[in-house]
Amino acid sequence: MIAHRRRLILFAHRGASTRAPENTLAAFDRAVRDGAGAIECDVQICAGGQPVILHDATVDRTTNGRGAVARMTLEQLRRLDAGAWFDRRFRGEPVPTLEETLEFARGRCLLNLELKSGGGARAGGTRARDSALACAVAAAMRRVGDHGPILLSSFSPATLAAARAALPRARLALLLSRSLRGLHTVHRRLRLHAVHPHLRLADPRRFATARREGLRIHVWTVNDPALIARLVALGADGLMTDDPALFRGPPPARATFPGAGRVGPTG
Ligand code: G3P
Ligand code: MG
Repeated sequence: MIAHRRRLILFAHRGASTRAPENTLAAFDRAVRDGAGAIECDVQICAGGQPVILHDATVDRTTNGRGAVARMTLEQLRRLDAGAWFDRRFRGEPVPTLEETLEFARGRCLLNLELKSGGGARAGGTRARDSALACAVAAAMRRVGDHGPILLSSFSPATLAAARAALPRARLALLLSRSLRGLHTVHRRLRLHAVHPHLRLADPRRFATARREGLRIHVWTVNDPALIARLVALGADGLMTDDPALFRGPPPARATFPGAGRVGPTG
């Protein structure tokens, strides 16, 4: 496994989401079998406040149902089929609960829970919702007990602040898609473990900034193994991919990287 040999953590983005329905136990299982050392998945709370694993605010795209996750009960969500839309072979695959996912990951892989609570006040979320999500995640972790290593991430500093309040010792990561602006302030306030920049932010200046802050750097979403050499040279600690199986096999002879010309392998 290239990523491991080069000390990059390979995160499966929503599980092995090109080979199995995203954010299901089938996708997580496939990811681990394909060599991922970590699983990234999206957590939100349903109407009853229970944390479930789903990316969108509605179930429309990834299940056979319709409606907003926040308005559906756990029982309604659990009756849905979250696999058939992807392929008939996955018919009957349920929307996972957070507890099931914690139990799945225990002893198998690092779990990166991306907290989706509406994106903080500016994006229409509320402090109450951030807090409810963070408390629900903390309660699920307590219920499961000796779960494995967990990294909580969010685009929203407000959501991460709620996570810090509910879980004072948790490892937190800030997701960034446009710039690293604000990273220093958030880190000083919340004691981040990592930054999760979009691939388009992977350049020497930005990565040096993150390094100076003492943060791990996990880049998303990388579906081209030829980019590994460049990411290693830049100092990345991990990458998220939709298809961990792509990262099997020998390192590329030459790697190209958008906007950075051609670079050689790192050995
Ligand atoms: O955690 C990285 C990535 O998952 C963030 O974007 O929309 O795929 O959850 P999204
Ligand atoms: Mg995500």
